[in-house]
Amino acid sequence: MLWYALVVTLLLVIRNGQAEETKIIDGNDGIRSISSGLSYGKCGGYCSQSINITKVPSELVALKGPNGDRVQYPTIQRKFCFNSVEWQELIALLDLEKFKMLDEIQGCPGCADGGIEWIQVDWSKESKRVTFEYEALIADIEELIKYWRVLREKYFKYL
Ligand SMILES: *[C@@H]1O[C@H](CO)[C@@H](O)[C@H](O)[C@H]1NC(C)=O
Repeated sequence: MLWYALVVTLLLVIRNGQAEETKIIDGNDGIRSISSGLSYGKCGGYCSQSINITKVPSELVALKGPNGDRVQYPTIQRKFCFNSVEWQELIALLDLEKFKMLDEIQGCPGCADGGIEWIQVDWSKESKRVTFEYEALIADIEELIKYWRVLREKYFKYL
C-alpha cells in the first residue's frame, strides 16, 4: 500500500513537471502571429511587402502588393514552412512587456516620402502594431527589427 502511494505520488510529480514545462515553452502570452511589413506612399509598381508568421499552422506568408495598378501588379503571396524551433527563436527576441509599452507611432513614418516599417503582434483577443520610419532602430526592439530585415532579405527573393 505504501509503495502504491509512493508510485502514484511520483507519477503526479512527473506529470506536473511536464505540464509546467509545456507552459514555459508555449510562453509569451499565447501569441498567435507576428508580422512585419514595409511600404512606400509615393511609389509605382510593388509598393508594399509584408511577412506574417503564424504559430498554427506554423507557416510564414510573404506577400507583396501595389498601391495602385492591380492588373499590372497583382498581389503575390507565397507560403513557406516555419517550424517550431524558428518560432521559438522569433518569440525569444520579443520582450513583450517592453513591446506593449511602446508608442504605436514612432517618429514620423512616411514623412518626406520615406518608407514605413511596422511590426505587429496578434493575440487571440488583441493586437498591437508599432509603426516607424524605414531603417530606423527603435529602442527595446532593435534585435527584433534586425531579425525582420534579415527575413525580408531571405524571403522576398522568391516573390
Ligand atoms: C496574420 O495572420 C493571422 C492569422 O491568419 C491574422 O489573424 C493576422 O491578422 C495576420 N496579420 C496581418 C498583419 O495581416
